[in-house]
Amino acid sequence: MANVHLEGIRKVYGALPILHGIDLEIEHGEFVVFVGPSGSGKSTLLRMIGGLEKITGGTLKIDNKVVNTLDAADRNLGMVFQSYALYPHLSVRDNLAFPLKMAKKSKAEIAVKVKEAAALLQIEHLLDRKPKQLSGGQRQRVAIGRAIVRQPQVFLFDEPLSNLDTELRVQMRVQIAKLHQQLGNTMIYVTHDQTEAMTMADKIVVLKEGRVEQVGTPHDLYHRPATQFVAGFIGSPRMNFLPCSLTAKDERHVEVEVDGGVKGWLPIQALTAERGQKLTLGVRPDDFVAPTGKPGELTLDIEVDFVEHLGSATYLYGTTLGESIVARSPNDRFHVGRQGRVSLAVASTDCHLFDTSGRALPRLEAPQSWS
Ligand SMILES: Nc1ncnc2c1ncn2[C@@H]1O[C@H](COP(=O)(O)OP(=O)(O)O)[C@@H](O)[C@H]1O
Ligand SMILES: [Mg+2]
Repeated sequence: MANVHLEGIRKVYGALPILHGIDLEIEHGEFVVFVGPSGSGKSTLLRMIGGLEKITGGTLKIDNKVVNTLDAADRNLGMVFQSYALYPHLSVRDNLAFPLKMAKKSKAEIAVKVKEAAALLQIEHLLDRKPKQLSGGQRQRVAIGRAIVRQPQVFLFDEPLSNLDTELRVQMRVQIAKLHQQLGNTMIYVTHDQTEAMTMADKIVVLKEGRVEQVGTPHDLYHRPATQFVAGFIGSPRMNFLPCSLTAKDERHVEVEVDGGVKGWLPIQALTAERGQKLTLGVRPDDFVAPTGKPGELTLDIEVDFVEHLGSATYLYGTTLGESIVARSPNDRFHVGRQGRVSLAVASTDCHLFDTSGRALPRLEAPQSWS
């Protein structure tokens, strides 16, 4: 086990800056997920931690030691990538044993370690097979097993489940999370899939264009996104955004008018924003409720043009005030199967506001959907 500390980490390819000074503290035993769109620099950052890519600037510490120029092999890391990179001519047993043979471990020790890893990953019955005789999920488990056998202090994963079909991905996600519980290692996991990030991470690092956009628990990022980018990236279906403007404010509240007419007070602090300023209202599809008519909610009339039934939930797709909108139906019988108009409300405590630069205005009360 080890902590990982990044200070002002930069990467430049040729003359092209890719990472612009990343500061990050990863604790002992933490499961940290780097998430962001393709090209945001996730793999580059992970590869620099792994010693596969030169660090242009800044300081990288693993287990409190500066390792900027230490060889990958000497960093005591286990790495798993999207491509399994198993040796095709070796059996599963020999693939698992390979890193231990390279480390000149005794035959007896190798046998024990291979057996332990195989048991942990439930691949004992596959030990005599060759990689081509395995399914995608089985191969990925062998690749993980090969990273485990040397008991590295930190695991690095780069999109390890991207080649698997949906069902298997969900299974492997649970397996990796359980593995983390059992081993208690520090794990750094890269994915572009926000669902993977939300379900697996202790701490999520959202990257955008080579910069850290926000660091926090899944709960923080969902309920208190710091930017409109994070708000839109985390959560599915995506948060709805409606243009609005500030019509009044006091110290702890703002009144906004959504373009097209709906007005309401929100427990959000606008320190710098002034009356008339353009803002963006953010409402999660899952935060809609049946209107009660009581104060403290914003009611939107939605013109529904499509109803999606998922069994556990029903989503209504349509438009409100000229913008497209998605809302989870408050109950299954609410407007099922019919097209037309429906009124839905959102608690003012569940509303988000963003300024024109995309920064979130601070929400002062716990969201209703929090509990
Ligand atoms: N070897 C390289 N040479 C030049 N540019 C690179 C190289 N590797 C990655 N990049 C660029 O760095 C950026 C970040 O890439 P990457 O870290 O792979 O992103 P991600 O893993 O988030 O999709 C991209 O714009 C990519 O084109
Ligand atoms: Mg990548």
